[in-house]
Amino acid sequence: MALQLSPQLRQRFQELKRRYPSRRSPLIPMLMFAQDEFGYISDDLIAFLAEDLNLRPVQVVETVAYYSMLRRRPAGKYHLQVCTNVSCLLRGAEPVLDHVRQRCAVPPKSPTPDGLFSYEEVECLGACTGAPCVQVNYDYYETLDVRKMDELMNRLRAGKKPTPVPYTTGVQTDNPHPAEVRVISRRFGLPDSTSIDTYLKHEGYQALEKALKQMKPEEIVAEVKRSNLRGRGGAGFPTGMKWGFVPKEANQPKYIIANADESEPGTCKDRPLMELDPHQLIEGMLIAARAVHAHQGYIYIRGEYRYVMEILDRALAEAYERGYLGKNILGSGFDFHLCTHTGAGAYECGEESALMESLEGKRGYPRIRPPFPAVVGLYGCPTVINNVETLSAVPSIILRGGDWYANLGTPRNGGTRLFCLSGHVNRPGIYELPMGFPLRRMIEEVAGGMRDGKKLKAVIPGGSSVPVLTADQLDTPMDFDSVARAGSMLGSGGVMVMDEDTCMVRVAQRIMHFYAHESCGWCIPCREGTAWLRKMLDRFHDGGGRQEDIPLLKELAQNMLGKTFCPLGDAAAMPTISLVEKFRDEFEEHLRTGECPLARSPAQAVP
Ligand code: FES
Repeated sequence: MALQLSPQLRQRFQELKRRYPSRRSPLIPMLMFAQDEFGYISDDLIAFLAEDLNLRPVQVVETVAYYSMLRRRPAGKYHLQVCTNVSCLLRGAEPVLDHVRQRCAVPPKSPTPDGLFSYEEVECLGACTGAPCVQVNYDYYETLDVRKMDELMNRLRAGKKPTPVPYTTGVQTDNPHPAEVRVISRRFGLPDSTSIDTYLKHEGYQALEKALKQMKPEEIVAEVKRSNLRGRGGAGFPTGMKWGFVPKEANQPKYIIANADESEPGTCKDRPLMELDPHQLIEGMLIAARAVHAHQGYIYIRGEYRYVMEILDRALAEAYERGYLGKNILGSGFDFHLCTHTGAGAYECGEESALMESLEGKRGYPRIRPPFPAVVGLYGCPTVINNVETLSAVPSIILRGGDWYANLGTPRNGGTRLFCLSGHVNRPGIYELPMGFPLRRMIEEVAGGMRDGKKLKAVIPGGSSVPVLTADQLDTPMDFDSVARAGSMLGSGGVMVMDEDTCMVRVAQRIMHFYAHESCGWCIPCREGTAWLRKMLDRFHDGGGRQEDIPLLKELAQNMLGKTFCPLGDAAAMPTISLVEKFRDEFEEHLRTGECPLARSPAQAVP
């Protein structure tokens, strides 16, 4: 039977096919929008897309099978996606999931008999400062508990859907903490902050004008180098240096990509940057494009952030209308085109080479390097990929100067960054603080101290992939070099705080569930290692661990380090090694008692 597309979907497909130089690139967005219309990816749809894009059906099938948001069976009218990753776990996500499970009384991803609900346990949704979080289709509901979840389901059943959160919970819009230094978040509290008129009234596109009319491309790169801006996605690579690697020759197209695939557990700072100030990101990309002679850009945004993508799309349309995008921008002769591109649920696609594969419409497998993307990237052409927060800092650097920005931070660690404080603190939130701000002040002053006056046990300072810090390391300044000296990494700025009642074996287990789920399976040490570690940690936490498992956990993790194409293997291994080393007594205690010693504590994260 021929597939009947609505006129809107047909038009959307046409637009998508015009966006890319390759016929396969629009495949993932087409699948996502088709799934929105039909509820799932049917065999008919696969056949239609294969024919429409001149692909073999198996190419479509292999892509669908890779991405967790793409479904081969219908879901309920309201698909409840309950995050239980670390930040949500620490704030009580498991009772919420149990409640959903009981009320639905069907297996995960299957619709209830009336077709109203389906549910699944999902990984970090980018709402860690509003934990626990549940996404209903594309709508976010945050700071939930069992009662609120019950009420939410009642309202959905009654056809009275509550208003989703307007923007990321915990973002400081009107009441910044006095310690904050607001550079990239300075427009967050403005009324109608996403509109181009608001942006223009508050220094918007002035940096672009300066970059186009007063600076040569190499001067832009030099200014960014002077600023000591380091990549905010996790690796902390100097941004100006990355731009400097792009070859000067003009014999190939060059691309700029904003990595908006924010998925590192504990991290939710790119979401407010896009939902509250989308033009700042667009301006940052325009300046980056000018610096490296690129004329096309893409914002690769995680599939869960659909409403954020719509905000960005509106902002892009405004920028085109006012002449900030398109041909001969501000009369300078410079052309630049930019569009959004939705992912479909895969943590691995936050890794830059896997992201490019995904943007080309394929499974998000990492590429071997060298060559690096600056030389051989998207469609085989030189490509700069920067995180959203990194690009959002660029307009301020160009406007006020690299030295000004560098001086806000510490040597070699310029500027400010958005720290996401989640877990057992009184005021979880997203705070813009200077690089080098002490961790202790961040927790005790800015985040209001520990919840219920409990003692701090541990902090994961930069998203779930970094080694854990202990209570005696709170005087660490939060910049890349100081955190590295303390044996961890600043990573993505996701600071997860755990109190004395937290079971660290459970934390290790949950982290490993995440990496085992997200491993793309390309490299054997990562695919086999994460699955093996997950099984061992499951057994351990359930009281079935063996004495020899403790050194084996560490040895296994150490054997994964540096053995994979992308850093996911390291990301799984590093927190595991540190948790076993620093909390060995808790592993021993599980062995002695044959159960989780904290299981009966009412305050324990795991009921
Ligand atoms: Fe649940 Fe990030 S939203 S851990």
